[in-house]
Amino acid sequence: MLTGFGNHFSSEAVAGALPQGRNSPQHVPFGLYAEQLSGTAFTAPRAENRRSWLYRLRPTAAHPPYTPYAGAALLRSAPFDDMPPSPNRLRWDALSLPAEPTDFVDGLVTYADNDACAVHVYAANASMQDRAFFSADGELLIVPQQGALDIRTELGVLTVAPLQIAVIPRGMRFSVAVDGPARGYVCENTGAAFRLPELGPIGSNGLANPRDFESPVAAFEDVERPFELVQKFLGALWSTTLDHSPFDVVAWHGNLAPVRYDLTRFNTIGTVSYDHPDPSIFTVLTSPSDTPGTAAIDFVVFPPRWMVAEDTFRPPWFHRNVMSEFMGLIEGAYDAKAGGFVPGGASLHNAMSSHGPDAASYAQAIAAELEPHKIEATMAFMFESRHVFRPTRWATETPLLQNDYDACWQNFAKAQLPRNDR
Ligand SMILES: [Fe+2]
Repeated sequence: MLTGFGNHFSSEAVAGALPQGRNSPQHVPFGLYAEQLSGTAFTAPRAENRRSWLYRLRPTAAHPPYTPYAGAALLRSAPFDDMPPSPNRLRWDALSLPAEPTDFVDGLVTYADNDACAVHVYAANASMQDRAFFSADGELLIVPQQGALDIRTELGVLTVAPLQIAVIPRGMRFSVAVDGPARGYVCENTGAAFRLPELGPIGSNGLANPRDFESPVAAFEDVERPFELVQKFLGALWSTTLDHSPFDVVAWHGNLAPVRYDLTRFNTIGTVSYDHPDPSIFTVLTSPSDTPGTAAIDFVVFPPRWMVAEDTFRPPWFHRNVMSEFMGLIEGAYDAKAGGFVPGGASLHNAMSSHGPDAASYAQAIAAELEPHKIEATMAFMFESRHVFRPTRWATETPLLQNDYDACWQNFAKAQLPRNDR
């Protein structure tokens, strides 16, 4: 594996396949075809610019026309203008695993979207056989919750298990193999590519460290048989059939590459005195907007960690935010909820919706002895966005939606003022 984030990598699966000194020489070694995949505008500033050169058996331009694809019936994209978005706090039970053979693409279900991303959950039990997928709409942050994914991409192979994540660049073809039931979350980022957050006063180390991001080495398959290629384009799905595997890149170089990251490597930072910090302290990756300090999307995790704050309500406090929060749970429990938020489930707290600990968690927290305590075996996460999420009709009508979610904030006893203050 190649390590680092945003580095300029070089990799060749056959010695001598990678051109030296030129990106597109007149004669590419072995007659390979040179093709640039751009992740940013050509003229994006150097620090933002992402592109890779792919040297392949055939150019990707050699394909028949796409026709509408009938699968993935619950994969959606904006605008969801068939109903007004609900301002309510929403929470869903875990997405059911499929009973019939279903692969990653057909197992994608869209829960919500906004002006920066779409949020999908997948439930699959079959590998993609002789077919590949790509999104022309956005890069894909994949967060497995159950079952490892073997992701073959144009640039190489990544195995991504629960507690790891993958980011697949926009437009990159990939295919997913599973070994049994698999479920997880996907943030399809249509804005600026995810990158590591600034660290400010934290310093030069901490949170997700660049060296822990892994990209694959070149790996290709020389396969000539019908191969379906499905793409998502402006929210709709299209299909074409190639007469060969699209995974025919023999060598590549550049800084636009899929990555894998192990969330257990996250260097969690928190208070060692008092008060529960803002959750931005847990940011793994961020997609900035044009407004400084205001993310289009933050990917935030809540990992195992020591809680040592003195004279402090330690779980998340009550809050209403301008940012909107889509949460999921990979394993364990989340410290602001006594129940109902389960692995494979999800919650949505949109802009200005009031939320925070449920009554049971609140009662426990104000009664707790504030000794050092370790929250263990848990990994919740949040896709936090400056843009309000619009739930899909499916997400609003599915029986997985918990109609009694509001009840977890009932039964708070009214505060009692001293009698002489009344
Ligand atoms: Fe929140």
